[in-house]
Amino acid sequence: MSESRLSTAWSRSLGLSLPVVNAPMGGVAGGRFAAAVTRAGGLGMVGMGGAGSVAALARELAHLDGVPGPFGIGLVDWVIRKEPELLPAAIAAGPALISVSFGTDLSWVAALHEAGILAATQVFSVEDAHRAQDAGVDVLVARGLEGGGHGAVEVPTLPLLEAIVADAPVPVLAAGGIATSRDLAVALAAGASGAWLGTCLAACTESLLSEPERRAMLAAQAQDAVVTRVFDVAKGLPWPTHFPARLLRNTFTERWSEHTDDLPEQARTELRAAVEAGDHDILPVYAGTGIGAVTEIRAVAEVLAELCSGAANLL
Ligand SMILES: Cc1cc2nc3c(=O)[nH]c(=O)nc-3n(C[C@H](O)[C@H](O)[C@H](O)COP(=O)(O)O)c2cc1C
Repeated sequence: MSESRLSTAWSRSLGLSLPVVNAPMGGVAGGRFAAAVTRAGGLGMVGMGGAGSVAALARELAHLDGVPGPFGIGLVDWVIRKEPELLPAAIAAGPALISVSFGTDLSWVAALHEAGILAATQVFSVEDAHRAQDAGVDVLVARGLEGGGHGAVEVPTLPLLEAIVADAPVPVLAAGGIATSRDLAVALAAGASGAWLGTCLAACTESLLSEPERRAMLAAQAQDAVVTRVFDVAKGLPWPTHFPARLLRNTFTERWSEHTDDLPEQARTELRAAVEAGDHDILPVYAGTGIGAVTEIRAVAEVLAELCSGAANLL
């Protein structure tokens, strides 16, 4: 089975040779990273996370100039409300797809459709999927609790995917813990139109991560990817409480996670000092349970080729 035989009706409709999309990871998936995914045959997404801004988007999109193939942009609901120019700037950039995740007001879908852009959002339950479909979302991302970064910790990826695929008339991408060829083959066999890949690509050479962050990823195993709100509380970020983050446990999580609801000022001071010093024993490194499969720092194209040819062989 060749890689092109791995393609799905959805990936073909976008002109992709591989049915994979990189998760729009804030602080990780910049323009160079997205360009590498698109060049490799997937859909490259630029991620604007909690620190997203019009200036940051423009800076990252410059790397996509002249890249043959489609790209997408991923946004966070509370950030587009804080930065009202961000969604219009993303639309004006003319991506094939925009995702907005972690919100309940889906009125942004209409603005995308007016501009001929596909709308995607991450869903964490069948109820979420119904709400998104009712709002006209074109692509559902079934994101299970194994996933890295923020998300609900409700249902594992496979049962979530199967339940959503069973009654969704729109394409469904699988997300959360997909890090090996076997994982990808299982997701496609379960009816996914593609995979939305975060952790398994995050340490690639093209990502925006620093060397200490990459090293922390290589050293970690699945059990190190814990779920906590402690960094969001310490930074005072308005993440909804039902979307904690999965990230690598470190000195800060060990010391303060249990005190998230009554976090003392000392924790905030420690975190501020760590930001100044770039201390990665304290700062967060977001990653899901697939982190154990990340054992080398490689180029995006290499990881995707191995993942997809392996899945094609298995299928
Ligand atoms: C480092 C990192 C940063 C992330 N940042 C974002 C983000 O800014 N916006 C978003 O919608 N999702 C973000 N996510 C979540 C992903 O969209 C996705 O749910 C997750 O990566 C899928 O699971 P996996 O990491 O096991 O592949 C992030 C994930 C990681 C690992």
